[in-house]
Amino acid sequence: MSTLDPADWSALRALGHQMLDDMVDHLATLRDSPVWRPMPAPVREGFEAPIPAQGTSPEALYERFQTDIQPYVTGNTHPRFMGWVHGGGNPVSMLAELLAGAMNANCGGRDHAGIAVERQVIAWAAAMLGMPAQTSGVLLTGSSMANFVAVLCARYKVLGQNGRTEGVRNAKLTAYASAGVHRCVPGALDMAGLGSGSLRRIPVDENFQMDLAALRAAIAADKAAGCTPFLIVGTAGTVDVGAFDNLDILADIAAQEGAWFHVDGAFGALAVLSPTLKPATAGIERADSVAFDFHKWAQVTYDSGCVLVRDPAIELATFAQATSYLAAAPRGLAGGAPWPCDLGPDLSRGFRALKVWMTLSAYGTDALGGIVDDTCALAQHLAAAVAASNRLALLAPVKLNIVCFGVSGFSDAQTADLVADLQDEGLFAPSTTTINGRLAIRAAIVNHRTTQADIDALVAEVLRRT
Ligand SMILES: Cc1ncc(COP(=O)(O)O)c(C=O)c1O
Repeated sequence: MSTLDPADWSALRALGHQMLDDMVDHLATLRDSPVWRPMPAPVREGFEAPIPAQGTSPEALYERFQTDIQPYVTGNTHPRFMGWVHGGGNPVSMLAELLAGAMNANCGGRDHAGIAVERQVIAWAAAMLGMPAQTSGVLLTGSSMANFVAVLCARYKVLGQNGRTEGVRNAKLTAYASAGVHRCVPGALDMAGLGSGSLRRIPVDENFQMDLAALRAAIAADKAAGCTPFLIVGTAGTVDVGAFDNLDILADIAAQEGAWFHVDGAFGALAVLSPTLKPATAGIERADSVAFDFHKWAQVTYDSGCVLVRDPAIELATFAQATSYLAAAPRGLAGGAPWPCDLGPDLSRGFRALKVWMTLSAYGTDALGGIVDDTCALAQHLAAAVAASNRLALLAPVKLNIVCFGVSGFSDAQTADLVADLQDEGLFAPSTTTINGRLAIRAAIVNHRTTQADIDALVAEVLRRT
């Protein structure tokens, strides 16, 4: 038998120390590097090699990492990355990943500290959102999976165990969300066997909030057609513009209709940590389920999504399966039920909770709420600069941390080129989206490292090119 551990640990220890020093330097000097670099073809081709039969030394692999991987990652740690909705991570979370790797805990189940830490994180998340203490939940890859878990819970609520064993069959179930809903919600309905066509995309008003009269009309029309409205999804922070639906009224409507009320708060849920923004989240505490990410505004390293389910019995009933090889026991390592594998789709799962717990513990919710406030203040600063320029125009109201703007007289192709140029040259990484039929430059300010000088530099660079 051979082991993968070295006979003498000193070389590995030295390499590990070097890696740690280098990665701390990397985080400390992020500004000195481009935001992003396109991967040269030969480097990319280096990752099309056959699987190696013989090993390579970790020292050589680390060199390869430094030349072929590190320079070409997404760049979302960089203060001038403002695309999509990417968190910047944090150094404590990076260290937690090392510890979690050393523990190599399987957090699907069993009775161990990994499960206790995750339960702590879930309890903190429920308290943060104002949900009841018994709220259950699990950590997942991201909000896409969290929304999927929520849809499955809603399906269980309406179809019961039969829905699990027999499938949806002829049930005509309909779900409702704003036109600004993230693609993962129709995706979740698709994966749940309900069909993405069961989602009614309700028009939004000028503030990109779901039009409640249109929602009521859609529900009435579906009921008249023999459908069962089973799920209302409110969005706390839409992906395009950061709009909040009126969650309180959605909760009322869901209660009247006997429908499951779910909130997709992928990043926006974290607005509860800001005293000034918290009122926009009113009603989130009434949700049957909430999906959100720690890897976005809470700055935990990827990946760390979370779903919360108000009624723990429903989450358990949605996923639990009895098998002899995974039977819970009153004591021993098989104790401590219910296990995360009975609360979500994953069985084997890593120790995500450690980096979340360490991040929340190291910084505290006040500091994280401060980042939410600061990034929103930067968005307002950008919005003001855009509004003050006669060459730029805001394409959507700025309520949160996302600014969508355009260049006067630019075609969509010119806007796309401008954004790609900024990315290719490693200067800034905004993304694009389409607002009212026009391609927008979209700056989502999520990263705790971004400063006002970065925003001013972005505006200056855009203006220089227009
Ligand atoms: C509103 C919203 N919902 C869901 C998601 C999907 O989250 P994830 O990328 O963590 O799967 C996003 C991602 O940006 C989002 O903005």
